[in-house]
Amino acid sequence: MNRKGIVLAGGSGTRLYPITLGVSKQLLPVYDKPMIYYPISTLMLAGIRDIVVITTPEDAAQFRRTLGDGTQWGLRFTFIEQPSPDGLAQAYLLARDFLDGAPSAMVLGDNIFYGANLPGMLAAVPADGGTVFGYHVADPERYGVLGFDADGTATQIIEKPKVPPSSYAVTGLYFLDGTAPDRAARVRPSDRGELEITTLLESYLAEGALRVERMGRGFAWLDTGTHASLLDAGNFVRTLTARQGLQSGCPDEIAFLKGWIDRDGLRARADLFAKNEYGAYLSRLLD
Ligand code: G1P
Repeated sequence: MNRKGIVLAGGSGTRLYPITLGVSKQLLPVYDKPMIYYPISTLMLAGIRDIVVITTPEDAAQFRRTLGDGTQWGLRFTFIEQPSPDGLAQAYLLARDFLDGAPSAMVLGDNIFYGANLPGMLAAVPADGGTVFGYHVADPERYGVLGFDADGTATQIIEKPKVPPSSYAVTGLYFLDGTAPDRAARVRPSDRGELEITTLLESYLAEGALRVERMGRGFAWLDTGTHASLLDAGNFVRTLTARQGLQSGCPDEIAFLKGWIDRDGLRARADLFAKNEYGAYLSRLLD
């Protein structure tokens, strides 16, 4: 059964106030593209074309306007509204009918991944059980954190621990099998009142069904949670793009290289952005 995609782009973005008083965090720019282009690109690199985008009711119209129905990238977008942000695991309850028993990859709408072997790593994820990615960070207490035994096997995941058992955070990219919605239905709210993704992942871990892949230092997993880290992410993309003359997190390019859109499709997009370097880049891909 084909794997489906979930982009979770809800939340009130309070940490980025006052910027996010009027616009969803995931629509803010990361250099030359809306933030949500990056997680969508990650799903595309994993070969996923059927994607549900979960947003707040207030922001739904803007996401539809920004993303369309997906045909410009050879994708199919479905939009679901999350009435209130009650935790990441809730996404699987909202997406149950969309998933219809299929395995899925869920990416958080503010998570940006970069790395040369990312496509290979994503393509290698098996359909059964669950797979998550651990990434070494300087501030693990802000995330779900992995604990390992002496052999390096992951034995625990703790959400925002005061004393982190390791420096490995669980990134916001979750490959789960078709049982995820049923498992999510058994998750009880945490002390902060949320259906934690960590609790859902624990149910896989307890059965020995959770794979933990470490993303090494050759990867970038960027945070956009604060004003400073949002700017850092934009500068990172600008630095790469300026130096290499190559895009990153570019759904238009990925769709074209994968053959999901043809030359006419890409040309239409290049024409739409003819006034800027993004459009010029797409034009060069046609040469
Ligand atoms: C969420 C998850 C956390 C994960 C993080 C990744 O945290 O609860 O386990 O490590 O995303 O971005 P939040 O950003 O909702 O605080």
